[in-house]
Amino acid sequence: MRQFNEDNLTAAVVGRLKGTKDKRLREIMTAAVKHLHAFAREVQLTEEEWFEGIKFLTQVGQKCDDKRQEFILLSDVLGLSMMVVALNHKTAPGATEATVLGPFFAHGAKEYGYGADLREGATMKGEDVWVSGRVLSVDGKPVPNAVLDVWQAKADGIYDLQTGGEFELRGRVKANAKGEYAFKSYKPKFYSIPMDGPVGDMVKETGNHHMRPAHMHAIVSAPGYQQVITHVFVDGDPYLDGDAVFAVKNSLVGKYKKMSDAEAKKVGLPAGSVKLEWDFRLSPEAGVKARKKIAASDAIA
Ligand code: BEZ
Ligand code: FE
Repeated sequence: MRQFNEDNLTAAVVGRLKGTKDKRLREIMTAAVKHLHAFAREVQLTEEEWFEGIKFLTQVGQKCDDKRQEFILLSDVLGLSMMVVALNHKTAPGATEATVLGPFFAHGAKEYGYGADLREGATMKGEDVWVSGRVLSVDGKPVPNAVLDVWQAKADGIYDLQTGGEFELRGRVKANAKGEYAFKSYKPKFYSIPMDGPVGDMVKETGNHHMRPAHMHAIVSAPGYQQVITHVFVDGDPYLDGDAVFAVKNSLVGKYKKMSDAEAKKVGLPAGSVKLEWDFRLSPEAGVKARKKIAASDAIA
């Protein structure tokens, strides 16, 4: 067939996908082609505009390296990451809700036990915090031997990966046999998403703001349970209602409270430190088709 035009082109391209052996790939490619063509038709896309689009996508790719993942950032600010999370994590009642991974997870962080000090080697001080709690099953029973991968930005709102130094404020914290975990860190502060690349330019151009409310990230894994990729946000943060990547859930907002001097002393923190008590609740894995583990390709380092 020849003589393609705006009325028959979509069907022709979809027709050429019919031989795709992998059924799921065929389904995804077919829908992508249909939606892309519909988008071009809807906005009557000009050649100049599409060339601008191609230039933008090229710049996004060129900005990526082993430390920087501009495509994850693009997916995040377009709400696509949260859409995919929402489609794939229908949280069981009582389970900790999932939210975006973000571009700053890294494999290979140091392993710690109960009471770990994640401030070790930090190049910048913050407000000292004692984070403690339990990893529980949705039925309230302790989950033994869970691992919490935790990471957060430094006091200036920049992640260790962004400056290429040693790992900071991140670690793999093992819970004990009773599901209890605890670590020392700094209270997270709100920060800007990286604005020095094409995605930042796009955010500015669209008049959107670029702040993320203060949070720590956690991936909680335990044998026999569904892994959860989540955040704990800071109650009272001014950006909770305007997160640049749409990741806030009411159930993930935690209250940081002042510790008494005696409490702080007991865990080896200075007077005036704060604490966060936070339980994670996991769903059993049995019978659920879900991603089990974070894949190597999810990380940039
Ligand atoms: C983060 O929380 O680390 C993050 C998530 C999405 C975009 C940028 C940063
Ligand atoms: Fe973050």
